[in-house]
Amino acid sequence: MKNNHCDVLIIGGGIIGHSISCYLNKSGVHAAVVEKQASGGKATQAAAGMLGVHTENEGVGKYHQFCEKSRDMYTGLAQELRELTSIDIGLSHFGMMEIAVKDEEKEALLLKKSTFRNLEWLETPIDRIPSLSDKASGALFMKDDGHVEPRQVCESFKRAALLYGGDLLEDRTVLRVKNNQGSFTVHLDSCSLTAEHVVVASGAESGQWFETTGLPNPIVPTKGESFSIKLRENYFNEALFFRDFYVVPKPDGRCIIGATSKPDDKTTNTSVGGLSSLMNLLFSLFPEWKEAAFQDFWSGIRPGTEDGVPVIGEHPFISNLYFATGHYRNGILLAPATGQLIEKQITKKPIDPSIQELFSPSRLAEKGEWTYEYSS
Ligand code: FAD
Ligand code: GLY
Repeated sequence: MKNNHCDVLIIGGGIIGHSISCYLNKSGVHAAVVEKQASGGKATQAAAGMLGVHTENEGVGKYHQFCEKSRDMYTGLAQELRELTSIDIGLSHFGMMEIAVKDEEKEALLLKKSTFRNLEWLETPIDRIPSLSDKASGALFMKDDGHVEPRQVCESFKRAALLYGGDLLEDRTVLRVKNNQGSFTVHLDSCSLTAEHVVVASGAESGQWFETTGLPNPIVPTKGESFSIKLRENYFNEALFFRDFYVVPKPDGRCIIGATSKPDDKTTNTSVGGLSSLMNLLFSLFPEWKEAAFQDFWSGIRPGTEDGVPVIGEHPFISNLYFATGHYRNGILLAPATGQLIEKQITKKPIDPSIQELFSPSRLAEKGEWTYEYSS
C-alpha cells in the first residue's frame, strides 16, 4: 500500500467488508481491508447462503425493500463477478419453500402470502418433493428467493476489489484507531496505517468499536450450528424452511441442514445436542433420510443486534467513521446492498433518507462521555 495510506480502511474481511471494498474500489475510492485471520473464515463460512427475503426477517416496509433489492442485485453480480474473477457464486434460481405442519403454521403462512407479492400457496408440497413427510399440510413457495455459495461470494468480492485496485492485509489485527480530526491513524499488531475513513465490518466482534467510541454496544453474538449430508439422488432444488430450521440443497449434491440459535454463546465448538435437535427436525420432515451419508458439521457466530436491524452508516459524533455490521441471519443476503450503501455514503451520492435513517448508528446515540481509542 503506497505510503501506508488509503482512502478507506475496512476492519474485517468477511462478506460485508469485502463487498464494501469491491464497491468502493470499483468507484475509484482506494479501500483496504484488514482481516485478522483468513478472509471469510468467521460467520461467512458458516452460512447456508439463503437469500431468505421472506423467511428470516419480520420486517415489512423499508427493511423488506432493502432485502429485496439486495437479493435482486445478485443476478447482475453473478455475471459481473464471474467475468471479472472467474468465480461462480452458485446463485440458485429455484426459489424457497416454507413448510407448514400445524394449523397455526398454515394460518401464519397464508397471512404472509397476503402481505407480500409473488408468493404462491402449495396445498400439497409432497407433489413437488416426494420424500417430504405427509405431515406437511402446505407450503408457501417464494419463487424469487434462492441461495448462493457464501464463501465463493466473499472470495469473488475480495478478488474483484483487488482487481479494481484495492488492498488486503490478512493475518493482521486492528488494535486501535486514533482520530486525528479529519483522518485516522490505524494501529495494527505489526504496523500503523493512515486513512481518511474507517469502516467497522468486524461481524460479531464489532462490539468493542461501539463501546470505545461512546455508543452503547448493540451487538448480540448468536451462535449457529449446522451440518451437511450427501444425498444419493437429488431430491429437489428449492431451499426449504421450517420453524427456523432449513434444508438447502447445493448443486454438488451436498445438503446443508441448519441451524441452531444460541444468543451470547461465543464458543466455536459444534455441540452434539445442537446437531441432534436439528436431526430430530430433519427426520420429522424427511423420515427416509436417516440413511443419508453424514458429511460435515460446523458453527459460526452471527452478528445480531438488540433491535434486529443492522447498523450501517456514519458514527453520530465522529465524522468519517462508519459501521457496517449487525446483519444477524441476513449478512449474505444483504452484502451487495450494504456494500453499495456504504459506497454511496462515503462518495456522497444521493441516498433514500428513510434507508439512511433505518440503519443509522445515530439510533444508538446516548448522552455521556466518549473516547475514540481502543487498546487491546
Ligand atoms: P464475519 O464473516 O464474521 O466477518 C468479520 C471479520 O472481521 C472476521 O473475519 C474477523 O476475523 C474480522 N475481524 C474482527 N475483528 C477484527 C480486527 N480487530 N481486526 C481485523 N479483523 C477483524 N446469512 C444469510 O444471509 N443467509 C444464510 O443462509 C445464512 N446462514 C447462516 C448460517 C449460520 C450457521 C450462521 C452462523 C450465519 C448465517 N448467516 C446467513 C448470517 C451471515 O453468515 C452473517 O450475517 C454474515 O456472514 C456476517 O458477515 P460479516 O462480514 O459481518 O462477519
Ligand atoms: N440465515 C440462516 C441462519 O442464520 O441460520
